[in-house]
Amino acid sequence: MRVYVFGLGHIGLATATWIAMHDYQVMGIDINPNVITAILDGTVTIEEYYQGEHIAHLAQSQIRQKKLSVTAEFIRVDRVPSIFMVAVGIADKEDGGQDLSPLISVLETIAPYLVSGDLLVLRTTLIPGTIDQFIIPWLRTLKVTMRLAYCPETIMETRAFEELENNPLILAGIDAESVSAAEAFLRSLSQAPVYRASNMRTAETVKVIQNIQRDVNIALINEIGEAALQLDVDIYELIALANTHPRVTLLKPGPGVGGYCLPNAYGYLRQGIDAGKCPLPLMSLARKQNAARPRKAFPLCKKEPGDYHHAD
Ligand SMILES: NC(=O)c1ccc[n+]([C@@H]2O[C@H](COP(=O)([O-])OP(=O)(O)OC[C@H]3O[C@@H](n4cnc5c(N)ncnc54)[C@H](O)[C@@H]3O)[C@@H](O)[C@H]2O)c1
Repeated sequence: MRVYVFGLGHIGLATATWIAMHDYQVMGIDINPNVITAILDGTVTIEEYYQGEHIAHLAQSQIRQKKLSVTAEFIRVDRVPSIFMVAVGIADKEDGGQDLSPLISVLETIAPYLVSGDLLVLRTTLIPGTIDQFIIPWLRTLKVTMRLAYCPETIMETRAFEELENNPLILAGIDAESVSAAEAFLRSLSQAPVYRASNMRTAETVKVIQNIQRDVNIALINEIGEAALQLDVDIYELIALANTHPRVTLLKPGPGVGGYCLPNAYGYLRQGIDAGKCPLPLMSLARKQNAARPRKAFPLCKKEPGDYHHAD
C-alpha cells in the first residue's frame, strides 16, 4: 500500500522513514525545498538514531531501496486507495489559537486527487474541537468517500524511533470503517497498544491533557524544590523517599519546560473551551510558573555545586 506523509520535519521524517522500514511505499512531501535537499543529500541535522544509525542514513537507505521518495511537489502516483498522513507543524497565533493554514493547505493540495477509500490520518496536535469544526465540514465537500482518523503523535525529540516502536496510541475516526482501517495500519508499524477514543474531540483532548498533566507536575516539583531549599532538605532524597508511597509520583526539578507540545498545551485547551465558564486557574498558574522558571534556575546554575543548599 502507498502512504503519503505530509511534513518532513522532526516528526514527519522519522514517521515516513519508519513506515518505509515497514515495507510500505512512502512518498514524503514537504513544501520547504531545503528540507527535501537535506534529506536527499544526507545532511539532515535532526538528532534521531535507530539501532545506532542516524536518521539521515536511515532515510537515505530507504530512498536507495526505492521504498521512500521525497518531494516538495505532491504527485499522486496511482488511483489505488492510499493513506495520507499529515504531520505538518501548526504555528501558534498571538491569542493562543492555532494558525491552521499548513493543515488546510495540505487538504487543498490533495482534494482534487482523492479517490473513494483513501484514508486520511492526522497526527498533528490540535485544539480540541478542530476536527469537528474544520476538517469534517471539509470532508463533506468532497465528491469521494474518504475515511478520516486522528491519532495524536506523542513521540519525544531524540527518542523518535524508540517511541514510534513503543508508545501506546490513541485513535479516533469518523466512523467504524475509518477506525478499523487506521488501526490495522498503525498495528502493522508497532507492537504498541492502540486505544480507541469514542470520538475525535476526546482524542484531541487526551493529547493536550497528557501534556498539561506534565506541565502542572513540573511546576509542582519545581515549587517543592524551592521549599526544600528553604528547609535545607536535599530535594533528590526527598523525592526518592516520597515516591516510595504507591500513590506518589513526583517528577524531578529542572530548568523549565521545553519542546513543542508541553508549553502549548494549556493554550490549546483554553482555546477549545469557554474560558469564561471554566477559567482553569491551576493550569494557568502552572504555565506561568514554568515560563518563568529559566530565569529562576539560571542563577542557581552559576553557583558551585557545594553552594547549592545555601543559595538564596
Ligand atoms: N516535535 C515534537 O517533539 C513533537 C512531538 C509530538 C507531536 N508533535 C506534533 O507534530 C507536528 C509536527 O511537529 P514537528 O516538530 O515535526 O514540526 P516541524 O516544524 O519540525 O516540521 C513541520 C514540517 O511541515 C512542513 N510543512 C508545513 N506546511 C506544509 C504543507 N502544506 N505541506 C507539506 N509540508 C508542510 C514544514 O516545512 C516543516 O518541515 C506538530 O503538530 C507537533 O505538535 C511534535
